[in-house]
Amino acid sequence: MFHDSAITRLIAQLSEFVAAHPAGTQLPSTRELRERYRVSPVTVQKAIAQLARAGLVATRPGAGTFTSRPPTVLEHADYSWQTLALGQASMNTDAAERGTAVIEPGVYDLSSGYLDETLQPTALLAQAASRAARRPSSWSRPSLEGIDELRQYFAQEVAAGVDPRNVLITPGAQTALVTCFRSFARPGDTVLLESPTYHGTLLAVQSAGLVPCGIPADRDGIRTDLLGEALTRTGARLVYAQPRWLNPSGSRLSDERRRHLHELLEARGAFLIEDDCAKDLDFGSSHFTPLVADDPRGHVVYVRSITKHNGPGLRIAAVIARGPAIARLRSARTAEGFFVSSLLQHVAGEVLTSPTWERHLHRVRKELARRRDVLIAALAQQRPDWALHILPSCGVHLWYRLPEGSSEDRVVSETAKLGVRIASGKTYFPAEPPAPYVRISYGSTPVDELVAATENLAR
Ligand SMILES: Cc1ncc(COP(=O)(O)O)c(C=O)c1O
Repeated sequence: MFHDSAITRLIAQLSEFVAAHPAGTQLPSTRELRERYRVSPVTVQKAIAQLARAGLVATRPGAGTFTSRPPTVLEHADYSWQTLALGQASMNTDAAERGTAVIEPGVYDLSSGYLDETLQPTALLAQAASRAARRPSSWSRPSLEGIDELRQYFAQEVAAGVDPRNVLITPGAQTALVTCFRSFARPGDTVLLESPTYHGTLLAVQSAGLVPCGIPADRDGIRTDLLGEALTRTGARLVYAQPRWLNPSGSRLSDERRRHLHELLEARGAFLIEDDCAKDLDFGSSHFTPLVADDPRGHVVYVRSITKHNGPGLRIAAVIARGPAIARLRSARTAEGFFVSSLLQHVAGEVLTSPTWERHLHRVRKELARRRDVLIAALAQQRPDWALHILPSCGVHLWYRLPEGSSEDRVVSETAKLGVRIASGKTYFPAEPPAPYVRISYGSTPVDELVAATENLAR
């Protein structure tokens, strides 16, 4: 049974309406649709959004929604000349598209790294957006590095003594990663990173023309003994890691490895890009200090995002770097897009400095801990053959090892047929996976739906 059957039903009914009327016919108003089909406004909104994506209707702001002709497919158009002109693809396009795919209505999404609407501070965001829109400075050109309010916020929250002038605001952490990889290495250079790692990082590495080299990571984080050997063997000067919480496996860097990592960076004259995107999703009892906080000589470049605990639409992140590194990042950002929208920065500033912000974070963390436990218990019951080796106390993903000999792609496509979307572990390895894994996420799915989704998985 799919959960959003009301949406699915309404889509079918509206599709019949579209088929029976010429293009340009106005659809009944939301109120009429609600009454006629006895559904909620959200159901109407979601069904129309889905039909719009399929090209069957078009919404004109202020006028209404109209039937439209589906896009004409030129069956016989020959675009093969394009691949000749474009040459070999430098990125894994399948992986890139999978990361941003739209989830069909009726499918439980256990693959997303973002939070669902019930965990987004929607009222606070709306309030912040309307306040920000009234500020005249929201419509002017900000400095390339970002507005002072945000830079100060990110500097002071990482550690005392971080200079706000070393903070650069970017439109999301994904962009920040691409900018870092392009700025700190040249095409063909090797970048050393945990294996497995966040698939978006692998895409960013590819897009910069760099060569990813995976260093095994266990429950204590990246194996620094192997990292040391790899630094010597490859001559690499760039390392990427997620010390607080490794997406996807959930490991956290131990104190001993943390010391070793600092020593390696210093001895080899290397940079570390420390990705701390899960900072605000840390629901564990032990405090984790980012590595950038004890790095006086500028080896660590720190990246953190606020999209995770607000909503993916608030695309704001911060990078902290010192010395020539920040100068390189500034030049790269100028080339890429000048600056981040002042409006969005002011919205973020309003949200992060709001008196209710801490309460929101507290609620998110508490709920994530609950969802994690519910999902683990439900999977232990429904899929006892899947093994969880690391219990994360941060983030939104669980990393399950499948029985030996399973094909993760097959498991993912079979679960999709059961109306549950999970992620194949393969995408997270820079080379061949050592074993079959799947990543199962609880950030975008409320508890009752997690339970229902896992019941589907038992089939
Ligand atoms: C580890 C990690 N880094 C970076 C990002 C990108 O975050 P943003 O939404 O700010 O681009 C993500 C998003 O899932 C992530 O998990």
